[in-house]
Amino acid sequence: MKNNIEALGDMDMTNVVIFEHPLIQHKITRLRDKSTGTNEFRTLVSEIAMLEGYEALRDLPTEEIPVETPIENTMSSVISGKKMAIVPVLRAGLGMVDGILSLVPTAKVGHIGLYRDPETHEPHEYYCKLPSPIEQRTIVVVDPMLATGGSACDAINMIKQHGGKKIKFMCIIAAPEGLKKLHETHPDIQIYVGHLDRELNADAYICPGLGDAGDRIFGTK
Ligand code: PRP
Ligand code: URA
Repeated sequence: MKNNIEALGDMDMTNVVIFEHPLIQHKITRLRDKSTGTNEFRTLVSEIAMLEGYEALRDLPTEEIPVETPIENTMSSVISGKKMAIVPVLRAGLGMVDGILSLVPTAKVGHIGLYRDPETHEPHEYYCKLPSPIEQRTIVVVDPMLATGGSACDAINMIKQHGGKKIKFMCIIAAPEGLKKLHETHPDIQIYVGHLDRELNADAYICPGLGDAGDRIFGTK
């Protein structure tokens, strides 16, 4: 299935990356399959987060440190890990944290709790704890699903209210409606999408999507 780029019309794609890498697409197909069980689902979410993170973190700040090789002393680059924060949107975003931590183990982790009202589809905040100070950090907000975009927009609003500036949003599956809304509301943030699906249905679920990401990660219903 191709990414539904056509649905974005003439949207400016600055700050938007929609992945086409075969490894990411293969793993997303396994996620979509309703017969994929909780254990494999969790592993796949984490692996996709790591693969997306590899690309999304290509501009992480680095610093040079001295190192003694078997041949001579030199200066060589390392990640300034203290300058990064991962912020999962609860619950489903939790599934993406380990994959990114495997790339940057020293990153701080904040949490934003939002749930979508099943009738109105509006997000409701129930928790927010972010690393402080946050102004200087690269902040990677993770949530597997970008549907209407309401949850992502609210999460970014909350981070900006706390002083966050350099913000990236990483998801696994997006609906065109949600991607447009997030990009229009927060054109300054970088958005990474594993696959851009067809559309939302009447219940604001992504089609074809993968169902309820939180329920599939945590085995709830
Ligand atoms: C899901 C998902 C996103 C949100 C996306 O969470 O993980 O946070 O819906 O929908 P939106 O773009 O229309 O806001 P949900 O509210 O179901 O909570 P959960 O992760 O606790 O299951
Ligand atoms: N949240 C999910 O978990 N899945 C969707 O398709 C939409 C919102």
